[in-house]
Amino acid sequence: MSKPQSSSKTKGRYERHDAYYHAAKKQGFMARSIFKLEEIDKDFSLIKPDAWVLDLGCSPGSWLQYVDSRIASSKQGGAVGVDMLPLKATFGPYIHFINADIFEVDISALTPNAAIQMPGTPLFFDVVLSDMAPNTSGIKSLDQDRSMALCEHALAIAEQILRPGGNFCVKVLEGGGMQAFVKECRRIFTDVKIRRPKGTRVASMETYVVGLKKK
Ligand SMILES: C[S@@+](CC[C@H](N)C(=O)[O-])C[C@H]1O[C@@H](n2cnc3c(N)ncnc32)[C@H](O)[C@@H]1O
Repeated sequence: MSKPQSSSKTKGRYERHDAYYHAAKKQGFMARSIFKLEEIDKDFSLIKPDAWVLDLGCSPGSWLQYVDSRIASSKQGGAVGVDMLPLKATFGPYIHFINADIFEVDISALTPNAAIQMPGTPLFFDVVLSDMAPNTSGIKSLDQDRSMALCEHALAIAEQILRPGGNFCVKVLEGGGMQAFVKECRRIFTDVKIRRPKGTRVASMETYVVGLKKK
């Protein structure tokens, strides 16, 4: 995956089609956010080549493209993606998609083998990712509340279906209950980190909470 180069002329300014957008497009990735997951994974070794990964809010599919590239060599892991919107990327046999609202999915049905209905797949995931974002209203407190509801639901899912030692990465909006959310993550994970990857737009309130090694 080759790195985007931002020019000094545009650094710091909001640009819809910035260096990350162009780099993603050139390399056939569905979204620029792939570089954020790559950076977080390189920092924390979230995704091992034989991992089973649950990707919440996976559309259009760039994070699944990254996961696919990480597990391709082992042919042992796999991923299940969930989103209300359809995927735009196409995948081989290791990536499975559930077209649903996560608030309407029965969590107990979200083990790899329930989702894939294939004997021999594990009961627990090694990694839960959530890049879910609500439709924004422009009202800061409302958007923060909606985003936090998604984060809390992702954490509830991770608590139930991650194996002990598993990892979690979730997008949050700064402010709006983030401190309490990080505290709750500390109850569940041995180590909790906060990362704002380089690809995050300057004006964005987005950051990522990373829970390592589920207790
Ligand atoms: C920023 S996009 C994710 C981009 C994705 N990580 C990628 O790399 O292609 C956020 C996604 O969250 C999804 N989403 C928001 N609320 C959701 C919900 N309740 N259930 C399922 N997906 C949801 C949206 O449909 C949207 O596709």
